[in-house]
Amino acid sequence: AAGDADKGEKEFRKCKACHMIQADDGEMIVKGGRTGPNLYGVIGRTAGSVEDFKYGDSIVAAGEAGLVWSEENIVPYVEDPKAFLAEQTGDSGARSKMTFKLPKGGEDVAAYLATFSAQ
Ligand code: HEM
Repeated sequence: AAGDADKGEKEFRKCKACHMIQADDGEMIVKGGRTGPNLYGVIGRTAGSVEDFKYGDSIVAAGEAGLVWSEENIVPYVEDPKAFLAEQTGDSGARSKMTFKLPKGGEDVAAYLATFSAQ
């Protein structure tokens, strides 16, 4: 089910409290907070891999085990980051530094983020 990037742009208002979208050349596409990592190019990127961002252990472990973000798997992640990381790592005690949950509209946000990602 492909999401709607225009709807996702509106939905991203909920994300930008903690996430910016800043291009590799420094251009600020969406000015946002720094609690979470830059989401420019996140689709196709290894989980937990932004240089200098202090991630939690579980997302780093998931990335080291091969988790790469896609339009599909970002949806269950934003619905429940902790549960998603528990499933990915096989560790029921997995922790997430992202405490926010987006119950619906994840497909649309994923489609929006894909417009800033080479895939
Ligand atoms: C991580 C998406 C809202 C804080 C992430 C990651 C994605 C993501 C894809 C993993 C990035 C990576 O591996 O480099 C989103 C989306 C949001 C949203 C689409 C809105 C629907 C928020 C909000 C907060 C937040 C509101 C703060 C209250 C974080 C933090 C991490 C993170 C701290 C790092 C997680 C960790 O180290 O375990 N987010 N996010 N996010 N996000 Fe969000």
